[in-house]
Amino acid sequence: MVGFINRARNTDMNASLSFRQYYSEKLDLFEAYLKQSFPTLPKEVKILEDSMRYSLFAGGKRLRPVLILTTAECGGLDPQIALPYACAVEYIHTYSLIHDDLPCMDDDDLRRGKPTNHIQFGEAIALLAGDALLTHSFRLISSASSTSVSETNRLKIISILAEKSGIYGMVSGQVADIDNTETDNPSAKLNFIHRHKTGALITSCIQIGAILADFDPGEVDLLTEFGQEIGKCFQIQDDILDEIGDEEALGKTPGTDQRNETLTYPKIYGLEESKKLADLSYQKAIASLDDISKDVDRLRQLAGFVLKRDH
Ligand code: IPE
Ligand code: IPE
Ligand code: MG
Ligand code: MG
Ligand code: MG
Repeated sequence: MVGFINRARNTDMNASLSFRQYYSEKLDLFEAYLKQSFPTLPKEVKILEDSMRYSLFAGGKRLRPVLILTTAECGGLDPQIALPYACAVEYIHTYSLIHDDLPCMDDDDLRRGKPTNHIQFGEAIALLAGDALLTHSFRLISSASSTSVSETNRLKIISILAEKSGIYGMVSGQVADIDNTETDNPSAKLNFIHRHKTGALITSCIQIGAILADFDPGEVDLLTEFGQEIGKCFQIQDDILDEIGDEEALGKTPGTDQRNETLTYPKIYGLEESKKLADLSYQKAIASLDDISKDVDRLRQLAGFVLKRDH
């Protein structure tokens, strides 16, 4: 009962907050937990701790954690309960950025406004810091204990995360991304890349939040569609920003895709059409929320942020 009153009060309070305030509130909650739960390693491997910390605390929009916290909150859950899960996804995302920047991948030297991890710590440590972030993310979830999350749901979440970050998601997307062999259907390949390398992890955030808050299975399906479309919108915008974005705002060097001859939306469709396609995904995303009975306005606003972002 007390939980219900608190939830209702939170909902009323949230309705009066602007989106910007709402986002920064979720960010504060998340940053505090990320900091407090960050592991201390023995002095023999201080370099590993430093390297993990360097990339994890370099800033970043924290979109994926905010998506989890928001979806869970829209479903009536206290976002505090979702924090270990939000943290785990940010660990995985950060690992993917460290590996993505390596010379054998995109070969980038600027990330989140700082020299990339391998520039700062060397390739071997960067590789291992990525490995450590990935494996530790599963420790964070499996050791999260809360009576509000059933063991069945926790297992479901672990399975989704392994699926969407691994061979059924991000890793396969990254493999397709660096494969430069000729294709007779570039738009199908591009769709595969975007759905897997970026869309999968973003979709998993919505699904994790939905499972934590016990949305009905039918609503989880609608939220999954929402996640897939904002994932697509997010990566189209990432491709656009790689062409026209500003280094200072982005915190990474634009032009990498052209240099690496990466298959992108602007490359296949041109800039203007790409913007229209990003908008189309946004429209589809918010339309999939129409039949959800709970108040999911914050998710609509987050979709708007994904479309309009400049970094
Ligand atoms: C960049 O992700 C990598 C992609 C999947 C395109 P973000 O744009 O979310 O990076 P941060 O976390 O804000 O640095
Ligand atoms: C990377 O896509 C997606 C990941 C899984 C990290 P990009 O290579 O386009 O990401 P940025 O532009 O370097 O952030
Ligand atoms: Mg890449
Ligand atoms: Mg890259
Ligand atoms: Mg990019």
